Amino acid sequence: MGLEIKKIGVFTSGGDSPGMNAAIRSVVRTCAYLKIECVGIYRGYQGMIEGDFKPLDARSVNNIINKGGTILKSARCEEFRTAEGRKKAHEQLVKEGIDAFVVIGGNGSFGGALVFNEEFNFPVMGIPGTIDNDILGSTYTIGFDTAINTVVEAIDKIRDTASSHNRLFFVEVMGRDVGHIALNAGVGAGAEEILIPEQNLGLERLLDSLKRSKKSGKSSSIVIVAEGDRIGKNVFELKEYVEEHLPIYDVRVSVLGHMQRGGNPTCFDRVLASRMGVKAVESLLEGKSNYMVGIRDNNLILTPISEAIKAHTDIDKELIRVSDIMTT
Ligand code: F6P
Repeated sequence: MGLEIKKIGVFTSGGDSPGMNAAIRSVVRTCAYLKIECVGIYRGYQGMIEGDFKPLDARSVNNIINKGGTILKSARCEEFRTAEGRKKAHEQLVKEGIDAFVVIGGNGSFGGALVFNEEFNFPVMGIPGTIDNDILGSTYTIGFDTAINTVVEAIDKIRDTASSHNRLFFVEVMGRDVGHIALNAGVGAGAEEILIPEQNLGLERLLDSLKRSKKSGKSSSIVIVAEGDRIGKNVFELKEYVEEHLPIYDVRVSVLGHMQRGGNPTCFDRVLASRMGVKAVESLLEGKSNYMVGIRDNNLILTPISEAIKAHTDIDKELIRVSDIMTT
């Protein structure tokens, strides 16, 4: 049995994602319910190093469940990568009397928590918050569902122009190293082709598919390209390549960018965040540490952080097949 936990710090780290506020709210309210103190740590690990703390009670998180972004702000912190930076952070936590923390973020943020736990034997618990859905140990990360709905809505609008002008659109979506957003939103929006980093189809196949599309009577096309895709260097080069080899196409590019990270979270993300926050606090109080809360088969599970950060989640092969069939 480790030390008794009376005060928990909570922070968001790395890229923001819709639903992070719902997760903060859940951690804070669970602490209040269980009668322990909760402290908000602002700007992720940077704020931890600087002692940027604020006590949070149940009423501090009123009316945030529906808001995108994160009330605690977020940052990607270089200083925390150094032993000196982590020492400063530990001193600040001890000074504030914080006994454990919950980090809401992605792989990079969990890696930091793991090292911190090893160095100071400090209890840590992770909640996966990233639109990329790329964390092992959870079928869904907080923010993914909202992001794919945002992308589908944007593509529906782009399709209006594509079909009115008989155009081909390359739409670039986020997903640094993975194609989950591209594949799911692509199937949901009825894209003609989906280019993802997990599958290098090659430029020839893309041209063949576009030719087939034209021949089969389609007058407009949407090709979704994950930002991490490797077949062309970027969407603009893909546009040039297709214009050169298939001049019949009138091609445009749309890069959706950070709009995918914003907006009110969907109900799915709010519920997921609420469930994960409760599980994170309860697990810490049960003496567990160094885990990430995840969801699988609709059950909350704990995965050691060391496992969760090892690799990205696999792409859904069945969905790739569905996409191939739908683009006939
Ligand atoms: O990891 C989430 C993510 O949105 C990626 O999809 C994207 O590549 C990256 O963050 C962008 O990061 P930043 O906002 O720091 O440019």
